[in-house]
Amino acid sequence: MAEGTGANFSLGDHTLSVPMELFSTNRVRLCEKLRGSEGVSGGGAVVVLQGGESKTRYCSDTEEIFRQESYFHWLFGVSEPDCLGIMEVDSGQTIVFIPRLPEDYGIWMGQIYSCEHFKNKYNVDSVRYIDEIVEVIQKMNPSILLTLMGMNTDSGKFCQEACFDGIGNFQSIINNKILHPIIMECRVIKTPLEVTVLRYTNQVSSAAHCEVMRAVRPGMKEYQMESLFRHYCYTHGGMRHISYTCICGSGHNSATLHYGHAGEPNAKTIEEGDMCLFDMGAEYCCYASDITCSFPVNGRFTEDQKMIYNIVLKANRAVMDVVKPGVSWVEMHQLAERVTLEELKRAGLLQGEVDDMMKVHMGAVFMPHGLGHFMGCDVHDVGGYPSGGVERSGAPGLKSLRTARVLQEGMCLTIEPGVYFIEHLVNKALLDPAQNCFINRDMLTRFRRSGGVRIEDDIVVTATGVELLTCVPRTVGEIEAWMRSGEKTWQPRPVT
Ligand code: GLY
Ligand code: MN
Ligand code: MN
Repeated sequence: MAEGTGANFSLGDHTLSVPMELFSTNRVRLCEKLRGSEGVSGGGAVVVLQGGESKTRYCSDTEEIFRQESYFHWLFGVSEPDCLGIMEVDSGQTIVFIPRLPEDYGIWMGQIYSCEHFKNKYNVDSVRYIDEIVEVIQKMNPSILLTLMGMNTDSGKFCQEACFDGIGNFQSIINNKILHPIIMECRVIKTPLEVTVLRYTNQVSSAAHCEVMRAVRPGMKEYQMESLFRHYCYTHGGMRHISYTCICGSGHNSATLHYGHAGEPNAKTIEEGDMCLFDMGAEYCCYASDITCSFPVNGRFTEDQKMIYNIVLKANRAVMDVVKPGVSWVEMHQLAERVTLEELKRAGLLQGEVDDMMKVHMGAVFMPHGLGHFMGCDVHDVGGYPSGGVERSGAPGLKSLRTARVLQEGMCLTIEPGVYFIEHLVNKALLDPAQNCFINRDMLTRFRRSGGVRIEDDIVVTATGVELLTCVPRTVGEIEAWMRSGEKTWQPRPVT
């Protein structure tokens, strides 16, 4: 396998230089796992993956900005659309196939680069044209051709299995079962090179959140905060893509979990007294970040806002304090629920025994989503529910948990507890005798339509605990001080 030519992905000296070694390391890991697996151990296997396709907007000729398909990116690091890639499992030999572009491309799109150019750019053994793929694979004389087919357990969608003219020649040796669980599992555990990129995306996105917190004022539109976040990440971090649609809810909108979509396009005017819940993360080199900051628009918490905020922060830190290899993510979700319920009881919003509340899923009334999820090349990264592993629970709250796995070193996850006053759920709970007995109705009335609070951090599981990737003001004191200060960069300060 080709190595160490200094090839890298970068968008300028102020951005992170990602060595192509990140992807050759991924390939080595995948080859090792495949060689040890049943069905491949006899030798002669070749992996074939199809990259993402270029698309235009509906029937128009308006091209969308291309973003590589995540499995293809993870294995080859190729940025261009419409490619294929193969890897011989025994030797690791890697060949990328590119489209033979029409002459006109040179007029409208720029230089047509040679295969040699892409070989050097991606540091692979060889680059050929797609119309040569059948001949190249035939020469390799594989015993088995491994294609990718499997379901993403977050979306329920299936990945695009490789397809090219002449693939029928290999019909008898194609296997689309073996590769998916193995490459998915490789993606779950991040290498140190991958963690370096995740650290970077978090660092830039954290700084962008800090910028937004300082810029926000009553009278501004929510989408202006989205715009500022994106501008900051692109300008300072070379981050052309965001990991997901920006959620910029203010006031009651902060209780809409996936606010910001086309029907609710972050278009409310932020008003005096509003809490903001801004969930935004940019990506670099197809590695995500996913951060939520919740804060009052004017930089000063009311007593009620402080109370809810501190409950969520306590749940977040309770989880972060105990996460380490061997810990069950389901238990972490339950821990966050328990802390939240205990604190809501202490505040007077709930009454009764917390154990009894847990039995009737009171936690999911205030936090209907899961505690967090894997993050990597996709913001909701793959591998949450591998076949043969712990199955998804059907219980409220837990059914939305994107993984039920026991944590291992190298996993990257979000920790994102929240407390929301969602009219639909509050009304349902008030009508349910099993739940309404725990609710202090008078006090709840004060909080209805106030929105919600989420505190979302990204972490990597280390041998003994966690590395916190996110760096934003988190305590009430830190947020208030930061929003009022004239400082340029937020730095964590020792607690006094
Ligand atoms: N931003 C979506 C999520 O937090 O999972
Ligand atoms: Mn998020
Ligand atoms: Mn998240």
